[in-house]
Amino acid sequence: MKTFYITTPIYYVNDKPHIGHAYTSLAADISARFKRLDGYEVLFLTGTDEHGQKVETSAKKAGVCAQDYADSVSDNFLKLTELMNFSNDDFIRTTEARHKKTCLAFWKKLLDGGHIYLGEYSGWYAVRDEAYYNDDEIVEVDGEKRAPSGAPVEWVCEPSYFFNLSKWGDKLLKFYTDNPNFVCPKSKLNEVTKFVEGGLSDLSISRTAFSWGIPVENDEKHVMYVWLDALTNYLTALDYSVDNKGYFKKFWPANVQIVGKDILRFHAVYWPAFLMACGLELPDKIFAHGWWTNDGQKISKSTGNVIDPIDLIDKFGLDQTRYFLMREVPFGRDGDFSESAIVKRINSDLANDLGNFCQRSLAMIYKGDAVIPKFNKTDADVKLIEQAQKCFGKVSNFIDNQAYSKALEVIWEVIKDANKYIDAEAPWKYKTTDPKRMDTILYCCCEIIRVVGILLQPFMPDSANRILNLIALSADKRSFSHLKTPLISGVAIIEPKGVFPRYQL
Ligand code: MSP
Repeated sequence: MKTFYITTPIYYVNDKPHIGHAYTSLAADISARFKRLDGYEVLFLTGTDEHGQKVETSAKKAGVCAQDYADSVSDNFLKLTELMNFSNDDFIRTTEARHKKTCLAFWKKLLDGGHIYLGEYSGWYAVRDEAYYNDDEIVEVDGEKRAPSGAPVEWVCEPSYFFNLSKWGDKLLKFYTDNPNFVCPKSKLNEVTKFVEGGLSDLSISRTAFSWGIPVENDEKHVMYVWLDALTNYLTALDYSVDNKGYFKKFWPANVQIVGKDILRFHAVYWPAFLMACGLELPDKIFAHGWWTNDGQKISKSTGNVIDPIDLIDKFGLDQTRYFLMREVPFGRDGDFSESAIVKRINSDLANDLGNFCQRSLAMIYKGDAVIPKFNKTDADVKLIEQAQKCFGKVSNFIDNQAYSKALEVIWEVIKDANKYIDAEAPWKYKTTDPKRMDTILYCCCEIIRVVGILLQPFMPDSANRILNLIALSADKRSFSHLKTPLISGVAIIEPKGVFPRYQL
């Protein structure tokens, strides 16, 4: 069986989930669902990143111990996966024993390979980013030293273990050249290449200033640098150190690792260097998506404009939210959220184009015999259905390139053509004069609903299933291998109910 391993970043448990977290996981969910429907054995991994100074500080502020704090915030992320209807196969927490075991094994492998040495780190550190910065990266804002991300930095001077990152620059550059799709979108590959070409310093991979982390074996004053700990999660889920279930053999290397643009350096530079040093294959692709702003403004807690995905679901509906996030902005670019934009999408794409098409054709059938009509085909009708089926190739190609909005555009072309077809063919005209023709037109409409419904399952699982229920398509006929299996005439349909209500602002 073909396999597909897709991951999201694991989320820091220093705060509750927001739209950015939901967005990253949603994209991965759509790819995972798509591949399952396409006959792949899928492993879709997400979870929480629970160690490090940032989480320790947040726990202290909240007046609870770090583990209790991590437990409660991690639970919010777990709940979000349910609320957003994510189909993740595993949810990893970096405070779990299985993860500690993998980290220790990974560290040992690096150590045994001669890639780790003890030294002293003195330089800048931004707790908010959990990242080290070089002197030449530091900027001054209002007289304060900041990281390029805007995060405050502090000067750190402490004993530290180092990973010999500086040795891997040429190998990384060669890998990028040989695998031009490793970092996507292309513009991001240039950014990463430039960074590596600028020269890499060895990376500090342990901290001693605090203790909330995985202790280094035989030197427990040190806890592992949270990014080394966190990146290893992608191997923990495969049980890398022992591989009892054969998951590592089956699923590694990952097919796609989705990340936000802010954490690309960790995934496209540090992570492949660690893997190379351990003699492991590198993932096929790291895809960096853009960031959402809110009504044109950067989203931040201090501005108070954080978008809570739970509020969006409550207000607009789950599938409406999923659709909007994937349709509005090409994945990889930055996007702006506004209520007027989501309402426009709901009313025009979902209620008008898709909802009305289903409702008007199925209501006519229901008022008549209430069964899937007979098909007395003409070439033009067959062509319409075939065209709808053919769009699968394009949709699949776009999904393979994380071009989710393009995939939806292609499906919407089918829906728009179908609306034009029903308008032009006007089946109601034939009710008494040529009922056979009316049946054929309505049969074609049902076929379009079937194909579109099947293709929309990864994006809007509940609504797509409701649409497919309206044409009484059995559950075992909803995978992509059935796209060309026509509906059986004479099967009774249920009373159609609107799937996408209009939204009044
Ligand atoms: N813990 C690290 C990841 C470790 S992976 C081995 C981390 N966590 S995070 O919680 O800060 O961020 C997780 C993801 O949310 C990132 O991919 C980030 O890009 C994304 N987003 C955070 N704010 C965002 C927006 N405003 N818009 C879109 N995504 C954003 O980084």
